[in-house]
Amino acid sequence: MNPNKALWEKGDFTRIAATMRDSGDALVRSLGISPGMKVLDLGCGDGTTALPAARLGADVLGVDIAANLVAAGNERARAEGLTNCRFQEGDASDLRGIPDQGFDLLVSIFGAMFAPRPFDVAKEMVRVTRPGGRIVMGNWIPNDPTLVAQILRISSAYSPPPPEGFVSPMTWGVDSHVVERFAAAGIPAERITLARDTFTFDFAGTPSEFVAAFRAFYGPTMNAFDAAEKADRGQDLQRELEALFESQNVSDTPGRTSIPATFLRVTVSR
Ligand SMILES: C[S@@+](CC[C@H](N)C(=O)[O-])C[C@H]1O[C@@H](n2cnc3c(N)ncnc32)[C@H](O)[C@@H]1O
Repeated sequence: MNPNKALWEKGDFTRIAATMRDSGDALVRSLGISPGMKVLDLGCGDGTTALPAARLGADVLGVDIAANLVAAGNERARAEGLTNCRFQEGDASDLRGIPDQGFDLLVSIFGAMFAPRPFDVAKEMVRVTRPGGRIVMGNWIPNDPTLVAQILRISSAYSPPPPEGFVSPMTWGVDSHVVERFAAAGIPAERITLARDTFTFDFAGTPSEFVAAFRAFYGPTMNAFDAAEKADRGQDLQRELEALFESQNVSDTPGRTSIPATFLRVTVSR
């Protein structure tokens, strides 16, 4: 089994995605989507950004490596009666079957960054976007002090070292890597805009209950706990994550958790 696919089919990412809907909506509203626009959402999950784009009238294809998330996205679109939004399985590093220059806008929010072979990913994103179109990526930033980078930093201390040759997904959050990968795909640096933006996780529970949701449903955190428990350090990881989530929570409402996280927003004019 492809380990990249196994990681994201593990658990149930829809339970985390449910905490990301408001920011997904806001991000999509900032993209200038108009009816009939052809949008590819790459690494779409269960449609946090694909559904809002379809609600604005775009013709949306969501592509994701995880079969369970593709099924969940199709079910959400069906339940809303969005006939202009469909989801299919695919790998961002190899979009075979998706035609050249078929999309006005390619969106990938914390999606394509997780695919292996980042140079192939950049080439594929450029290939399927039409000249004059746009690619918009959201990428977590390594060593950033906010939530996701810190979860990964803490988790990595409990996990075995990655295999030889592994390229961290977080390198997509480094300006120079982004520019280098798109340059290799034929896009000069002046057509790339890099900006810091914020995505907020909103959870209907306490910070420690939110950690429990990551532990139960989020593949990368599940793997970190598996490794920590093997070394009899599961409680240490739990404590570190609870301290992180508590310290990042900005909600004043008891029993709710709201955590803003910084990401790198990449906009490429094709
Ligand atoms: C953090 S989730 C984000 C999902 C969605 N974009 C959102 O904002 O809710 C990462 C997503 O990337 C998908 N993914 C990981 N590797 C992929 C690959 N090689 N090709 C396509 N999708 C991939 C995962 O299955 C997962 O749905």
